[in-house]
Amino acid sequence: MSSREVEVVARALIDAKGKAVAFTGAGISTESGIPDFRSPQGVWTKDPGAQERLSLDYFLSDPDESWQDYIERFYSLMIKARPNLAHYALAKLEAMGLIEAVVTQNIDRLHHKAGSKNVIELHGRYDEVQCLRCNFREDIEKYVSEFRKTSNAPRCPKCGFALKPAIVYFGEPLPEKELSNAFTLARSCKVMLVIGSSLVVYPAALLPETALQRGARLFIVNLSPTRLDREAELVIREKASEFLPKVAEYLSSSQI
Ligand code: APR
Repeated sequence: MSSREVEVVARALIDAKGKAVAFTGAGISTESGIPDFRSPQGVWTKDPGAQERLSLDYFLSDPDESWQDYIERFYSLMIKARPNLAHYALAKLEAMGLIEAVVTQNIDRLHHKAGSKNVIELHGRYDEVQCLRCNFREDIEKYVSEFRKTSNAPRCPKCGFALKPAIVYFGEPLPEKELSNAFTLARSCKVMLVIGSSLVVYPAALLPETALQRGARLFIVNLSPTRLDREAELVIREKASEFLPKVAEYLSSSQI
């Protein structure tokens, strides 16, 4: 990575005077041991049929199998994952008043664990359950233990409907409040940092586009090409955990 790239991004954050948003995808968590989806080692790349099993229809048709898949694919990895230097760098930039929010497609809670305060989760969170009928929500741990004993999808204690992990399955709408807040941020930010996303899933992928249309400066930190590369002011083909700490370090050491 060039020190020029670090300096350009750092100065852009200073010039944004706090109106900067980080938009993150699975790529920011690969160095925490959570595979992404579309890289050569990605979840969908290695098991194309997996997407179908992570759909709302599949959950409704076979809640037990759907729970088994969720626990194997997400819960068992995420419960032990720890934030990496990229997550910590974003939390530090927020604490310095240079990032106003992280909008994430990730369900792994690593931004929260790293100390980020203003995090918008567009695709839900792995560590809670929700009831589609009465909207009951609770920490998922005891329901995972129950499933491991019975192999049956847990039932809602309030209305008896099958409980699901509080993640957005394919075919399920994104949470309205989170999506609306994310678009408000995208429309008003001066800088958007895209980190670790292939930008192929909608409506989340509309956010960087919206920021661009409103005149924001776009920077992409991603190991592989994305369809917005040509519109970005800079595309950094570096690991997020290497580039972002350099930006945070540059800003905390210089008096700019
Ligand atoms: N540093 C920077 N970029 C990385 C790193 C890293 N350490 N590791 C992987 N990447 C890049 C990959 O090159 C890839 O382009 O991160 C990107 C991750 O893209 P995807 O796997 O498509 O993940 P994402 O964009 O988050 O997917 C969006 O798709 O399946 C749904 O709900 C799922 O939220 C997910 C959504």
